[in-house]
Formats: sequence, C-alpha cells, structure tokens
Amino acid sequence: MSRRLVALALWTLFCAGAPLGAAQAESHERGQALFALCTQCHGAAGIGNRDALAPAIAGLDQWYVEAQLKKFRSGIRGKHPQDMGGLRMHPMALWLQDDADLAAVAGYVASLAPTRPAPQLTGGDSARGKQLFTPCVACHGIDASGNQAMNAPALKHASDWYLLSSLQKFKDGIRGADPADPMGAIMRAMAGTLPDEQAMRDVIAHITTLGN
Ligand code: HEC
Ligand code: HEC
Repeated sequence: MSRRLVALALWTLFCAGAPLGAAQAESHERGQALFALCTQCHGAAGIGNRDALAPAIAGLDQWYVEAQLKKFRSGIRGKHPQDMGGLRMHPMALWLQDDADLAAVAGYVASLAPTRPAPQLTGGDSARGKQLFTPCVACHGIDASGNQAMNAPALKHASDWYLLSSLQKFKDGIRGADPADPMGAIMRAMAGTLPDEQAMRDVIAHITTLGN
C-alpha cells in the first residue's frame, strides 16, 4: 500500500472512530445521571444496603444488569407477593422505559469498581460449601466470575445476605417462577439441589473465599 493510501485508511478509521467515542462518552454521562435514581438504595458506589434489601451491584457485567432491569421492568422478576426486595425494585425499573437509558445505566453500573461488601452471614462451612459448589461451576465458573454464554452472573462480589435470600427465593418459587423466565427456571432447579439453609450458608461461605 502506498503511503498516501495508508494515510487515507488511517484518516477513515479516525473519522469512523471519533463519533463512536463521543457516543460512548455521552452514554456514560447519561448513565451516571440516571444512576442518581439508584443510589438511595444501592449506595453512591453501588455496594448495596442490607437495610434497604438492596444488593451490591457495582461491577456486575452490563449484559446481566440489562437483562435483570428488563425482567424487573416487565414484571417477570419482582412481582411475586412474597418478594419484598423485588417489589421495591420493580417500580424503579419502570423509570427506564427507554432502552437506550436502560443500557446507559447498566453500562454505568458495570463501570463501577466491584468491592466485596463486608460479610454479614455466619455459620457457613466453606469446606463443605466447596463440594456443594461443584455443580455450580459449569455455569458460574470456578471462581464465580460468571459466564455470559450460560447467562450466569458473577457471584463473587455479591452481598452474602443477598446470595442467601436469592437462593431461598429460587428454591421457594418467589424468584424465577414466571413462565416467561427460562433462565430463572434453570436456576430454580439448581437451587433445589441445595437441601436446606445450612447447605446454602455453606456454599456461600465458599463463594466468599473466592475473593477478587
Ligand atoms: C427503592 C430502592 C431501590 C432503588 C431506588 C433501586 N433499587 Fe435496584 N434493587 C433494590 C432491591 C431491594 C433489590 C433486590 C431485589 C431482590 O431481592 O431480588 C434490587 C435489585 C437490583 C438488581 C439485581 C441485582 C442482581 O444481582 O440480580 C439490579 C441490577 C438493580 N437493582 C439495579 C438498579 C438500578 C440500575 C437502579 C436505578 C435505576 C436501582 N436498582 C434502583 C432496590 C432498589
Ligand atoms: C445451568 C446453569 C447454572 C448452574 C449449574 C447454576 N446456576 Fe446459578 N444462575 C444461573 C442463571 C442463568 C442465573 C440468572 C437467573 C436470572 O436471570 O434471574 C443464575 C443466578 C444465580 C444467583 C443469583 C445471582 C444474582 O445476582 O441475583 C445465585 C445466587 C446463583 N445463581 C447461585 C448458584 C449456585 C450456588 C449454584 C450451584 C448450587 C448455581 N447457581 C448453579 C445458572 C446456573
């Protein structure tokens, strides 16, 4: 390729790249502005607040945050009468009618630094939990960092109390039971393999050893 052609190719790339970068910056800014709606419960850094039943969300993958916000918005998640936390989150997602806004706020949540919230649960046996975690690895990964191909989120930066409440809700059909929620159905079956609350506490004790 001649020098002129190379220069032309670079210029074309530059021109194509510039508006994209600007659009991304705009979406990040929009996401940050929208996130003001979320901080009341999830905190300014997105690390959650147990009193508000709101889990840590900072650094969750964008695809997962988007999928969950859509589920809350449509009511596939968060409308069961016994789902105390979900019933609080469902109306919040209704603020995000515009898909571009929903993606922007999800992108902003994903950009926040994940931090492990201080452990709040006690009484879990992490050695037993490691055994119980064996079947979970297929979808959530050996280090619980998630796998988009399986639609399985990262668990390693989650609030431990929230992991427990989610496992209980899946097992009891309070989360994931809507016929329009096939991913929830998959996870319900998995939660069903944990016989009791002690097994859940054990598996969570293992997940919390996985660190950053
Ligand atoms: C009134 C309090 C409140 C506000 C405001 C709120 N949330 Fe939530 N959010 C919750 C609660 C409670 C849950 C837990 C639901 C459950 O237990 O299943 C939750 C769950 C979530 C989840 C699911 C996390 C997971 O691991 O599956 C996401 C994502 C989320 N919120 C994002 C947002 C975003 C983005 C906003 C702002 C647009 C927002 N929330 C505003 C209370 C709130
Ligand atoms: C076949 C794949 C698969 C396996 C195996 C699996 N999961 Fe999941 N898990 C999922 C999917 C998909 C979701 C997302 C469900 C949704 O969209 O609400 C999920 C969600 C979760 C959540 C909720 C996370 C959040 O942020 O709200 C927890 C907790 C969880 N899984 C724990 C486990 C544990 C513990 C095991 C092993 C006993 C396990 N999973 C095995 C697919 C799987």
